[in-house]
Amino acid sequence: MKMKVKDPSLAPQGRLQIEWAEAHMPVLMKIRERFSKEKPLKDIKVAASLHVTKETAVLVRTLKAGGAEVYLAPSNPLSTQDDVAAALAEFGIEVYAWRGMSPEEYEWALGKVLESGPNITMDDGGDLTVMAHERGVASSVRGGTEETTTGVIRIRALEKEGILKYPVIAVNNAETKWNFDNVYGTGQSTIDGILRATNVMIAGKWFVVAGYGHVGRGIAARARGMGAKVIVTEVDPIRALMAVMDGFLVMPMKEAAKIGDIFVTATGNRDVITAEHVSLMKDGAILANAGHFNVEISVKDLDLMAMSKREIRKSVMEYTLPNGRRVYLLAEGRLVNLVAAEGHPSEVMDMSFANQALAVELLVNDGEKLPPKVHQVPREVDERVASLKLESMGVSIDTLTDEQRKYLESWRLE
Ligand code: NAD
Ligand code: ADE
Repeated sequence: MKMKVKDPSLAPQGRLQIEWAEAHMPVLMKIRERFSKEKPLKDIKVAASLHVTKETAVLVRTLKAGGAEVYLAPSNPLSTQDDVAAALAEFGIEVYAWRGMSPEEYEWALGKVLESGPNITMDDGGDLTVMAHERGVASSVRGGTEETTTGVIRIRALEKEGILKYPVIAVNNAETKWNFDNVYGTGQSTIDGILRATNVMIAGKWFVVAGYGHVGRGIAARARGMGAKVIVTEVDPIRALMAVMDGFLVMPMKEAAKIGDIFVTATGNRDVITAEHVSLMKDGAILANAGHFNVEISVKDLDLMAMSKREIRKSVMEYTLPNGRRVYLLAEGRLVNLVAAEGHPSEVMDMSFANQALAVELLVNDGEKLPPKVHQVPREVDERVASLKLESMGVSIDTLTDEQRKYLESWRLE
């Protein structure tokens, strides 16, 4: 096998990490048990671009248990857990990933997994899907999955231009993904990333969250829970109104820039914090990003405007501005939760990756019948994932009686 990881001797440590994740991902492990018996992915090649974490390891081992050959590249140059990558290589996953890849190495890794001639692509952010289309690999692909909001937006844009060549299931948009991973997962892990990088006190600080979508909502709630005074910035009037009614201060970034101690972008958009905002900030302001790409905080602007910069702690770059103030950029403006911490906890990735595994099975069975569009995860799959998760947590719920079901389906008030 021709794989490439940073240090194969880290494999024993990586195996323990994976074992820990497995113990916290009961839904995916249940799917693995069935996959091991039924082998629904026999002879299927899966090319994946995902953050190479212990949770991703549980997913790709589940696909392998189902009979698939798995080729794994990262979905961000800085998010790979090198011990996990080393363990995966030993487990027979063809992995091309290490932390701190250059842009060229990152592109090379994606190219390597596509060389396998995959039947399925599994993407987080859209880079692999776009490359499959650019490199003429797409025509032999039966279907793909997409893990995150930004990736779904990019793949919808391919569809809109009429150049999407195969069906892609928007795993991100499953209720058991978007309303849990993006909200509670990113809420907790973003705070975790900020704390591991800085160890600053959150209580009493002005904490600015840009974007009140799924991710922003989770971060704002967790920051408030730790005693921060939270300000939200938005461009969508409905989302802004939700933030107001949830009790947050809402104002434009130009106003928030003067007040904030900690800023987190979570918009999926570019240039949310630029030189214009940075020049208004207080000495000591901390800037972090939770959105998929490193374009939300303009790192280019920071580099251009700063008199000097130095790495003051791991994942913390201090920029000294012409006005003498200092601002601190975390994790190079990349996903702070995956670069400065370990990403979302296993418990929530359990649901996201259960949807991924079931979406792959669906594409293997029905992919050839689906048109080359972006498809939703079927409701039954979403409900199955939720039911299994509840069961694993020892929570039972009520069921509708026949009378109640009829009542809910009728216009008569009998
Ligand atoms: P979403 O569509 O639910 O929310 C995005 C919000 O940002 C929207 O309300 C939108 O109006 C707002 N917005 C857009 N431009 C803005 C601007 N200039 N200023 C202020 N607000 C603006 O999307 P989401 O699911 O919350 O995802 C947000 C980003 O986070 C995406 O890039 C997604 O891929 C990424 N993501 C990251 C992680 C992680 O682990 N860090 C996990 C899930 C999603
Ligand atoms: N995205 C966010 N957290 C993650 C994790 N723990 N593993 C893989 N992808 C992630």
